[in-house]
Amino acid sequence: MTDHVTIVEVGPRDGLQNEPYTIPTEVKVELIERLAGCGLGVVEATSFVAAPAIPQLADAEEVFGRIERKPDVRYPVLVPNIKGYDRARAVGADEIAVFTAASEAFNRKNINCSISESLERFAPVLEKARADNVRVRGYVSTVLGCPYQGEVPVAEVVRVAEALHEAGCAEISLGDTIGVGTPKKARVMFEAVAASIPAEQLAVHFHDTYGQALANIYTCLDAGVRVVDSSVAGLGGCPYARGATGNVATEDVVFMLDGMGMPTGVDLEPLARTGDWIAGELGRPRSRAGQAILKRN
Ligand code: HMG
Ligand code: MG
Repeated sequence: MTDHVTIVEVGPRDGLQNEPYTIPTEVKVELIERLAGCGLGVVEATSFVAAPAIPQLADAEEVFGRIERKPDVRYPVLVPNIKGYDRARAVGADEIAVFTAASEAFNRKNINCSISESLERFAPVLEKARADNVRVRGYVSTVLGCPYQGEVPVAEVVRVAEALHEAGCAEISLGDTIGVGTPKKARVMFEAVAASIPAEQLAVHFHDTYGQALANIYTCLDAGVRVVDSSVAGLGGCPYARGATGNVATEDVVFMLDGMGMPTGVDLEPLARTGDWIAGELGRPRSRAGQAILKRN
């Protein structure tokens, strides 16, 4: 197995979606462009969801239309249904992500339907995507716990991940939406999914609410994952996941992977500067690794 790790930078989407104040479109565009300039190969740009659900990303068309896309960078966008798919395609998106959960209660709050209804909703999206040659990632949220129902059975995570895989998702991202996972549980969950879906098609997505994300990533790397989601400066959170904080900081993940000799192609210095800049724009704390890297130079 290769040591190369693909980082999926979710800052412009997951990182910004829960910010309380309206962030100017040009700041979002600059963030995406700066991240793409740091050697990140995948930058999740925005979401084509219903504006009342996520007001912060209501300017998705404008953001996506304005970014100067680099040919060697992928810019996936979130799409909850066929309406979102058509909106995304109309402005030239060529990679999308659909999202559901392993917990019924969270799914209801987040996308207002049951898990099985969400899978039915995705069927026409996946059909169109296949015809359009659009790559689809599938997210499973609440894989290690739910803010409404608590424990989430691993068997349910496996079932939902398999359903997305069978429906044609090229990659399944396993989301610890509220960051309650700890390494042993994370590994058991990852290995259970990897028993039926090839590890090359899996990604991990840890929110860092309790400071467990790096340890969870480490153990999943050991179990074979090679795609890791993270957010510059550790921004992020889902408005439908009460109490959850941001994603693991990209700076922290890249520092760890550099130290382990696992290449990512990401250049830490400009990444740390980008994290410093966006944290300043939003009045958010800097990531630990980002701050240390800037101080050292
Ligand atoms: P609904 O109200 O059931 O939808 O919401 P609906 O089909 O009944 O439509 C209601 C209205 O929304 C209609 O407008 C539709 O046209 C409109 P009206 O006729 O009343 O004027 N609408 C749309 N408008 C624009 N774009 C669309 C769209 N769809 C419907 N795509 C829906 C269901 C899924 C749309 C809504 O609940 C929604 O958009 N939810 C998104 C929630 C979200 O984005 N959450 C955060 C992302 S998930 C996450 O963060 C977790 C993740 O990071 C992984 C992890 O951490 O675990 C991925
Ligand atoms: Mg998330």
